[in-house]
Amino acid sequence: MDKKDSDIVLLCRYLIRFLNIYMPPFSIKIIQKLDDYLLEQMEQLNQNSTDFCYSEKTPQEIEEHQDKFCSADEIKHWVLAIQDEKIIGRLAVFKREIALEGKRVTLGGIGKVKVRDDKRRQGVASKLVQEAMPLFLQMSCDLVYLCTNINNPIMVKFYGKYGFKHFVPGCTYLGKSGKQYLELGAMFAPVNQEVFEWLFNHSEPFSIGCGNW
Ligand SMILES: CC(C)(COP(=O)(O)OP(=O)(O)OC[C@H]1O[C@@H](n2cnc3c(N)ncnc32)[C@H](O)[C@@H]1OP(=O)(O)O)[C@@H](O)C(=O)NCCC(=O)NCCS
Repeated sequence: MDKKDSDIVLLCRYLIRFLNIYMPPFSIKIIQKLDDYLLEQMEQLNQNSTDFCYSEKTPQEIEEHQDKFCSADEIKHWVLAIQDEKIIGRLAVFKREIALEGKRVTLGGIGKVKVRDDKRRQGVASKLVQEAMPLFLQMSCDLVYLCTNINNPIMVKFYGKYGFKHFVPGCTYLGKSGKQYLELGAMFAPVNQEVFEWLFNHSEPFSIGCGNW
């Protein structure tokens, strides 16, 4: 690295430090049910966040998405990042009982991860996941499941920091319509290490029941 390059690196570091110092703090709220005010806030968040790891969806893909992600009644907690009384980021925590080869497995899940466009790259999603992970132990889950765009190395690295590992065979599940789907972007993190290792010994897709997260 020559002197010019190292000066640029130094300048970038100062800029990042400056931005971190002047970013107004946000707080984390964990709640079980959204009231009308929070529902409206959630709507505003949806309008002000563009998709980062998935491409724009056609109307047909939106319909399919709604068929696939039909498990809102299994949300046990919302983890919200709040700033100036507004939701700037959110994540949903799911829980479901399933059976795999006759073994009862309590499956936790993370879904609906979203951060407002103007609040990205400031550690909001990282804080949401950090706050969510202890909830799965409290809820006596065995595993935590999420799906992401596995072709996006940023997301794989991000969730990898919290113990999530790509389950290559993928997961099958039923949509609201009864149609069966295969999710190849499945990642799991352990709560019960023994169940986690047992799962990763499988080479066939794992059925997670009805609805993706
Ligand atoms: C993906 C998303 C939740 C990230 O939120 P965020 O608050 O910006 O994430 P963070 O600031 O906590 O960053 C988390 C990590 O991802 C990296 N990252 C996030 N966005 C990035 C980008 N656009 N380019 C490069 N790296 C990025 C960060 O550098 C950080 O890595 P590090 O932990 O090694 O430093 C946000 O972009 C979003 O809401 N996207 C739309 C919805 C979506 O794609 N959700 C994910 C569904 S699986």
